Amino acid sequence: MAPVDPHSFTDSDHPLTTHVSLTLYFDFPSSTISAATLLTLAAPFSGELTLDTRSLSISAVLDPLSLSPLPFSLSPSPPDPVLGQSLTVTVSDKAEVLILSKTSADSSALQWLSPPQTFNKTHPFVYTQCQAIHARSIFPCQDTPAARTKYSAKLNVPRKLSAVMSAKHVDRRPPVAAEAGGACEDSIWCAEDRIVEEFVMDQPIPPYLFAFAVGELGFREVGPRTRVYSEATPAVLDAAAEEFAGTEEIIRVGEKLFGAYEWERFDLLVLPPSFPYGGMENPRMVFLTPTVIKGDAAGAQVVAHELAHSWTGNLITNKNNDHFWLNEGFTTYAERRIVEEVQGEERAAMNIGIGWRGLVEDVERFKDNLEFTKLKTNQAGVDPDDVYSSVPYEKGFQFLWRIERQIGRPAFDEFLKKYIGTFKFQSIDTDMFLDFLKANIPGIGDEVDLKLWTEGTGIPPDAMEPVSDLYSKIVSLAEEFKLGRMPREDEVADWHGQEWELYLENLPKSVEASQVRALDARYRLSESKNYEVRVGFLKLGISAGCREYYSEVEKTLKEVGRMLYLRPLYTALVQGDGKEEDKVFARRVFSEACDCYHPIAKGVVEAIFAKFG
Ligand code: BES
Ligand code: ZN
Repeated sequence: MAPVDPHSFTDSDHPLTTHVSLTLYFDFPSSTISAATLLTLAAPFSGELTLDTRSLSISAVLDPLSLSPLPFSLSPSPPDPVLGQSLTVTVSDKAEVLILSKTSADSSALQWLSPPQTFNKTHPFVYTQCQAIHARSIFPCQDTPAARTKYSAKLNVPRKLSAVMSAKHVDRRPPVAAEAGGACEDSIWCAEDRIVEEFVMDQPIPPYLFAFAVGELGFREVGPRTRVYSEATPAVLDAAAEEFAGTEEIIRVGEKLFGAYEWERFDLLVLPPSFPYGGMENPRMVFLTPTVIKGDAAGAQVVAHELAHSWTGNLITNKNNDHFWLNEGFTTYAERRIVEEVQGEERAAMNIGIGWRGLVEDVERFKDNLEFTKLKTNQAGVDPDDVYSSVPYEKGFQFLWRIERQIGRPAFDEFLKKYIGTFKFQSIDTDMFLDFLKANIPGIGDEVDLKLWTEGTGIPPDAMEPVSDLYSKIVSLAEEFKLGRMPREDEVADWHGQEWELYLENLPKSVEASQVRALDARYRLSESKNYEVRVGFLKLGISAGCREYYSEVEKTLKEVGRMLYLRPLYTALVQGDGKEEDKVFARRVFSEACDCYHPIAKGVVEAIFAKFG
């Protein structure tokens, strides 16, 4: 018995799951899902099979052929705070088990929105976020990316709603009584006001890429393999269709750089503002925050990033979260190569520069916990959501960029294509990457300190900032602000969100309140429609003690649930020896806003409160 993953009860001696067949009954009034989960293992197994669950109740485990019950037990409460509860099923020479379970209303993967919390205010909405380790809060599974599985799913939902998934849609039809997997204790499963949406995913994916959304959905066609979905509100759909009109071009650039797009469709789903991330690379159906819809370069950047995961992340997957940089570092590198082609070198350099600031800041944030400034980490006992940072993204990017500089772009491009071709549909770790690197680029270990990069803490000396006139200009303007000079109007006339974002990130942490006010008086940053800019400014305002911005802070914390905005604002309010009234303010706003946050975001804000008291 050895764990394959610090975040899973999966045992290395057990066969891994190869297929999951799900029947899900959505009960909106109770915010719960009843599930019949049929797991198929790679080989028949005898003994005690261990699976991951979190806040699930299990009503039965059955042999799917005879429907006879199989002995099972859930590990005793309280659950492990990170892993949840293990479900042990005793089987004898079985390759299939059928589990009947029910989620709880606080399933960590699911956000349930009541009608008033939606745009149209008439129908409820529910969506998933399974990365990193939340799939187990929907159905029991070997919730490790080491277990790549195909899946099929039947979603039984109210007839007025429709469903999308990270899978191919194959049918929408009335329910039939037999399909509740033995759980059909009453007729609700096949009532007249219900409909079944059927999906199939026949490419093996890690469990964190399992995804659905159910609500009153609409869509617009934006390309030969792309639709944009969102709540069926014409204004939202139109704005989204316009923002993402260039998606096919981005896919073609990705294919040129990294090889064929293997997932057939590349649809986009724009979620409600509470979506906790900028984007999530669910295969065939990327999930996006609506905050990127603002008609500038940011939408394309997030799309480029999530698209890039189609190769780095979804085709080649980190074996477990200790090697998360293999997903995000590669994807950040790939994203910037796409951005460079589509938007030019200067935009790519700006992104590298913004990323660099983020890296410097996060290395500082982890100065008492240097483990999380490494690329290869040890996350045993640690909740991946609590240590999410730009390190795997930006240090990972820097590492690959360093190798590119060493061997030249043509050789690196060839290496990347070979890497993708070799490991596609596999889950790998850092050592497998390093072995492949050394085998294909002989002598690389003499030129680049591979051990320092992957196992060392902090930022290696051969990392670097981008070389770009615009980037240098903005950084030096930020330097001058310290001496009391504000940028002139002619200097910022061409600035968009990213320029302001970079400028604000490069300002010193503590700025005089009078300077903050003067900057806002001239450029109205506190009310920017661009959230990166607004949050960057409000953070400064909080540190400088400018209380007149607190209503804007409150408004922001109540209208979006993206953790990229929540984390810095709540942290600025409660960190260090922050004033007591700021902490009281933060707690009040949180208590009023948290019903609108996804459970993951809620947990992250609670962790900030716990850390800073
Ligand atoms: N896969 C991540 C989001 C994620 C990471 C969810 C870890 C849960 C756990 C996604 O691809 C991502 O990196 N999103 C970024 C987009 C940005 C880099 C353009 C985000 O949400 O900010
Ligand atoms: Zn990513």
